[in-house]
Amino acid sequence: MSEHVTSIEVLRRLEAEALGAVAAAGDLPALEALRVLYLGRKEGRISSILRGLGRLSPEERPAVGAEANRVKEAVQAAIEDRKGEVVLGRAEARLPVDLSLPGRPVWRGGRHPVTQVVDEIWAIFRSMGFTRARGPEVETSWYNFVALNTPLDHPAVDEADTLYLKSELLLRTHTSPVQVRTMERYEPPVRIIAPGMVYRRDTPDATHTPAFLQLEGLVVDEGITFVDFKATLAEFARRFWGPGTRVRFRPSFFPFTEPSAEVDVKRVVSRPDGSTEETDWLEIMGAGMVDPAVLENVGYDPERYTGFAFGMGPARMAALKYGIRDIRVFFDNDIRFLNQFARP
Ligand code: DAH
Repeated sequence: MSEHVTSIEVLRRLEAEALGAVAAAGDLPALEALRVLYLGRKEGRISSILRGLGRLSPEERPAVGAEANRVKEAVQAAIEDRKGEVVLGRAEARLPVDLSLPGRPVWRGGRHPVTQVVDEIWAIFRSMGFTRARGPEVETSWYNFVALNTPLDHPAVDEADTLYLKSELLLRTHTSPVQVRTMERYEPPVRIIAPGMVYRRDTPDATHTPAFLQLEGLVVDEGITFVDFKATLAEFARRFWGPGTRVRFRPSFFPFTEPSAEVDVKRVVSRPDGSTEETDWLEIMGAGMVDPAVLENVGYDPERYTGFAFGMGPARMAALKYGIRDIRVFFDNDIRFLNQFARP
């Protein structure tokens, strides 16, 4: 009888023996011991036969080698299968699986609180017939200052306040240049909202960040008066802050509006015990009637057209709305903070 027949018989016997032992093994340590016994690299019984292949004649080697590999894989697979059964059996004994339980909800993320405020503001103005506009964040000093009637000796123009890329080219310090770009491209009537990032040479603190969102509004048409201005912004304030909100227009100055005002609101907030109280006056935006010089700069006839404009900071609105004292939390993106604003 040639040696390879013997080897193959030995392999088959080993296979039957190993599969029987694996099927009978009741825990992971027992399965590991069987793996070492049969497949262990040094002393494993099947591994030893594979290692001894070199002693066989070249004619015998392929058949014995193939059989040894088949047996090795069969035993390996049996051990893996049995491991699965053992682990599952243990889990089942401890915790019956109830397939009718609802799945765990998956966290899908949510909109940033400042984005939510922009969307709320936009929804209110959209319902009043405004459209949305945008302009570049890199601006020329013409659009950012000169066309807006801002004299070049105004402090905002200074390098101490404005980030210049090179002379005449800068990161816009406000969204007001979108007014100019819009009026250049379209004839009245104009009714736009323009949210966007603006940049200032500021050191970050609780109320300043060198980059922040601003939201500009502009209305120009024939016959637009101070009454339209006040009524539109008061309506916005009451819809955003709640029906009991009081609105105040405080005289102010901006180079691109005349007259100019700062808009303040006094909100009604509820206390935990259900009673209500009024807040202090909170400044929410700068605004005014568009200065005729600005209309002239874009080629509108100031004798025929009038309008009003306003600008606000959505992060400031969000901070006031949610009682946040340090606006840097809007940039930290700490998930524990953001999660509080998650809406389904
Ligand atoms: N551009 C002003 C700023 O950045 C905000 C502003 C005030 C915008 C009055 C306006 C306005 O449109 O009429 O502080």
